[in-house]
Amino acid sequence: MPDLALYIHWPFCKSKCPYCDFNSHVRGAIDEARWKRALLTELDQVAAETAGRRLTSIFFGGGTPSLMAPETVAGLIERAGRHWRFADGIEVTLEANPNSVEAARFAALGQAGVNRLSLGVQALDDRALRFLGRAHDAAEALAAIALARRHFRRFSFDLIYARPEQTLEAWGDELDRALPLAGDHLSLYQLTIEPGTAFATAAARGDFALPDDEQQGALYEMTERRLATAGLAPYEISNYARPGSESRHNLAYWRYDDYAGIGPGAHGRLTLDGAKIATRRKRAPETWLAAVEAVGDGSEERVPLSPQERAREMLMMGLRLAPGIDRARFASETGMALEAALDGAQLPHLIEGGFIVLNAAGLQATPAGRQRLNAVLAQLLA
Ligand SMILES: C[S@@+](CC[C@H](N)C(=O)[O-])C[C@H]1O[C@@H](n2cnc3c(N)ncnc32)[C@H](O)[C@@H]1O
Ligand code: SF4
Repeated sequence: MPDLALYIHWPFCKSKCPYCDFNSHVRGAIDEARWKRALLTELDQVAAETAGRRLTSIFFGGGTPSLMAPETVAGLIERAGRHWRFADGIEVTLEANPNSVEAARFAALGQAGVNRLSLGVQALDDRALRFLGRAHDAAEALAAIALARRHFRRFSFDLIYARPEQTLEAWGDELDRALPLAGDHLSLYQLTIEPGTAFATAAARGDFALPDDEQQGALYEMTERRLATAGLAPYEISNYARPGSESRHNLAYWRYDDYAGIGPGAHGRLTLDGAKIATRRKRAPETWLAAVEAVGDGSEERVPLSPQERAREMLMMGLRLAPGIDRARFASETGMALEAALDGAQLPHLIEGGFIVLNAAGLQATPAGRQRLNAVLAQLLA
């Protein structure tokens, strides 16, 4: 039976950031006892169909799971421990915002069983944080990083770069300040304008513009170089780690391993009776909650994936990773050889252009390919 990773979604935030299209919502009051009961109910449901497996990671994502009561987090981890066998050194990550009220809970979250914190720092200067609509300032971010270091064996923080008018020099300076603060892992995302967000409206109005493709490429290349020099290898498009400190949980997604998702909008991929099943929970928090209370789970969709769909998903996820996709693993997951899943007409041009490497080991996107992965995938999967 394949190992399992578990994702738990907490859909609430103090305020909505203008760039964010995650399933995150601002609510006046949350009946946390009810939410805990419902998450435990869905945990029991998914455990019933994956009994006997080994659990390698738990990830509390959001939204802002650092707003959860530590007892809720502890209760979920404890229940998971009753259902599944924990792998040695199981990774238990929680996403946190650097606001001081939340940082005050880090010790309790550590005691609850969280052993890795992922902190949404986003920027290290106040002007940029204001532009990003964040509820914290740079001083709070630094304080939260110090606390994370004290209370968690492993921690990572997120920064958003390629912001409007950001020069190579300015981003270089910010990286110089960030690197000495880093633990074993950093997530560095290029700002994207997501449809339906406040930033989409503002950008359409002409309030600001993202750096052009050339500038984005230059920023990305500089980021990879600086991080590699600092000993944090670029192991995924936006993720950098010291060797062995990659996020085990996120690797499960990118390697197309099994994961279960509970909570509003959570996705899962589960191998059950030889089929790979895609699961999706109801997205709206209140709709999800009502469904769990009425029928025992908030499932919106459960569909078996065809070999073609599995191949497509595996390519989309696996090419994000620096080591790419293992040939044997691809064949066992999809029943297809790599070449059979790729558009043969486009392959030579992508290989000669230096965007992908196809060999006995498998398929890999080069750094240049990873930088424009959407375009590469569009051709590979044509
Ligand atoms: C689920 S969110 C973060 C968790 C936490 N609520 C926070 O804001 O710190 C995960 C990360 O995705 C990144 N992110 C979200 N929307 C983005 C966008 N439009 N462009 C770039 N990065 C984005 C941010 O760095 C964010 O920390
Ligand atoms: S970036 Fe984080 S805090 Fe901001 S709305 Fe999205 S999930 Fe919430």
